Amino acid sequence: MISLQKLGATVGAEVLGVDRDRFVHDEDLPSACLQALEDNGVLVFRGVHLDDQTQVAFCNRLGDIHRFPTHPIPEISIVSLDPSKSAVAEYLKGTFDWHIDGTTDEVPNMATVLSAHALAEDGGQTEFASTYAAYDLLSPDEQQRYGSLRVLHSFEAHQRRLNPNPSPEVEADWATRPKREHPLVWRHRSGRCSLVLGATASHVVGWDIAPGQKLLEDLLARATAGDRVYRHEWSLGDTVIWDNRGVLHRVCPYDPTSPREMHRTTILGDEAIA
Ligand SMILES: [Fe+2]
Repeated sequence: MISLQKLGATVGAEVLGVDRDRFVHDEDLPSACLQALEDNGVLVFRGVHLDDQTQVAFCNRLGDIHRFPTHPIPEISIVSLDPSKSAVAEYLKGTFDWHIDGTTDEVPNMATVLSAHALAEDGGQTEFASTYAAYDLLSPDEQQRYGSLRVLHSFEAHQRRLNPNPSPEVEADWATRPKREHPLVWRHRSGRCSLVLGATASHVVGWDIAPGQKLLEDLLARATAGDRVYRHEWSLGDTVIWDNRGVLHRVCPYDPTSPREMHRTTILGDEAIA
């Protein structure tokens, strides 16, 4: 059993009374966390100071983990804007926009676990908004009208927000990157519905580009309006888990020279968007 305290109106809960020792020894903690994640979208463990081995061992009990064979610890990715610490530092600037991880993958990630090892002096907070709540917010008429729409998600759409005037070489590279079409409304196995939105959402399939983009922007703005967002102000040793199936997230901009360093583990999904 775990004790929870709600953090936001529609997303986020702090898990109380769990220390590092419980991550190692509490046999019931993983299943309790998975249920709490489904119910709350984001779980916050303050000041638990998980070392990498403990984080990986715990994540192995949440599900299958994404492994990077070239990383010193294959299950851990270092999130940093310092290119000497992260090979994808430049790409990480794209995470300043609201997004869902893995929308161009066949099956998006189920959850992400992030632990704070060094902090930014300014910025670097992580913000979350529920995409289940975004669907519930729609009027019955909107739910009906948008229920059959399909949206193209692409790496290119995400990158174009960062670089609106790309060179022909850059555009040619984008064209080779993944694209994937998804329904706007994800009808989950659980019976719940969520909206699939964010920086990779390019346009509504079969619509003129401009009105489709306007609809996607409008829905994103409503989903992420201030009172619907939980903003996590990191302290050293915090661990946060979010449910990528029902949550949009973004990081608040911070200086590229910042020491901010997060250790990330990704839990694989087993449910395609449908
Ligand atoms: Fe992300």
